[in-house]
Amino acid sequence: MATAITNIGTLVTNDPSLGQGPLGIIENAAVVIDGDRIAWVGSSSKAPPTDNRTDAEGRAAVPGFVDSHSHLVFAGDRTAEFNARMSGRRYTAGGIRTTVAATRAASDDELDATVARHVAEALRQGTTTIETKSGYGLTVEDEARCLRIAARHTDEVTFLGAHIVPPDHADDPAAYVDLVTGPMLDACAPHARWIDVFCERGAFDGDQARAVLTAGAARGLTPRIHANQLGPGPGVQLAVELGAASADHCTYLTEQDVDALAGGSTVATLLPGVEFSTRSPYPDARRLLDAGVTVALSTDCNPGSSFTSSVPFCIAVAVRDMGMTPDEALHAATVGGAAALRRTDVGRVGEGARADLVLLDAPSHVHLAYRPGVPLVSAVWRAGVREV
Ligand code: NIG
Ligand code: FE
Repeated sequence: MATAITNIGTLVTNDPSLGQGPLGIIENAAVVIDGDRIAWVGSSSKAPPTDNRTDAEGRAAVPGFVDSHSHLVFAGDRTAEFNARMSGRRYTAGGIRTTVAATRAASDDELDATVARHVAEALRQGTTTIETKSGYGLTVEDEARCLRIAARHTDEVTFLGAHIVPPDHADDPAAYVDLVTGPMLDACAPHARWIDVFCERGAFDGDQARAVLTAGAARGLTPRIHANQLGPGPGVQLAVELGAASADHCTYLTEQDVDALAGGSTVATLLPGVEFSTRSPYPDARRLLDAGVTVALSTDCNPGSSFTSSVPFCIAVAVRDMGMTPDEALHAATVGGAAALRRTDVGRVGEGARADLVLLDAPSHVHLAYRPGVPLVSAVWRAGVREV
């Protein structure tokens, strides 16, 4: 049974052939949803007859946000660490250990409830596709159970056994890499689509990251990487060399890193919630965009470095502090995220796309950045179902 959403003030389709500019904006638009797909997009006055109709009353509509980077399978809380940072302490990868201990001690039901709560929280803020990772279990059993739980809530599941070397392997990191690329990968590969590694001083070096990603790729998992977050390093160029779907963080980039991204197919995923929550310098989105790099914008929702599930918040920060225009930030948070997940069915509003649509209590998508912190999301359809 088809449903039409009519009288949309401005609709961002992300398809330049459907409307004006790079965002393909249609004014006075309508969208027809049939099942889980979009069946028709165009001018409201030409909308075909349907059984059901929702009047958007001039509100703006955008594609559902695609959050291509989060860590939702965790237990516990890092408020004390955040408080210490806001009193001047620096963020380090070491805080991850606190969450690993809490996650190992948690029951499946507790972890499941936490993932469900944050996926629902993100949905209320317009996120209709979300990637999430393991990485707080760091034993064969705990990583596998974190992935099984994640897979109940999303198809975009990433194995991040190489998040840090856990305390139980502190004196033999090489043995931990062997575990990750051997028995842990065997147990985890069936539950994931992606393989990830935290390539950073204090986590894994370039050679270890290469070993992890190539082992995952040999098991059918596509690489993505946490790279160049806390300082310069080999991660971004490794990602491009291996054809990774995405290099995430990209905060400290050399000219060679930018050139490599511009010459390759790897998306640069920027995560401004991290710099906000760790009081550190933001990545330079302008430099990447000007070089022709595909940029995605995501939350990195996790209890340590970025405890926000809000894509609108990230859009506002990216516009204010990272040199992005409101159009570029919305593009990065929709089609950019889709590119980082190698998806063409989400992040756009067009015939055949998944019916993921967000209505805003605003006359245009620019208000996402213009009205920071204001809950503008007034309705959300995910796969054709009205969820909010
Ligand atoms: O993407 N950088 C590594 N991992 C997460 C932080 C995890 C944590 O602090 O718990 C990130 O920022
Ligand atoms: Fe992350």
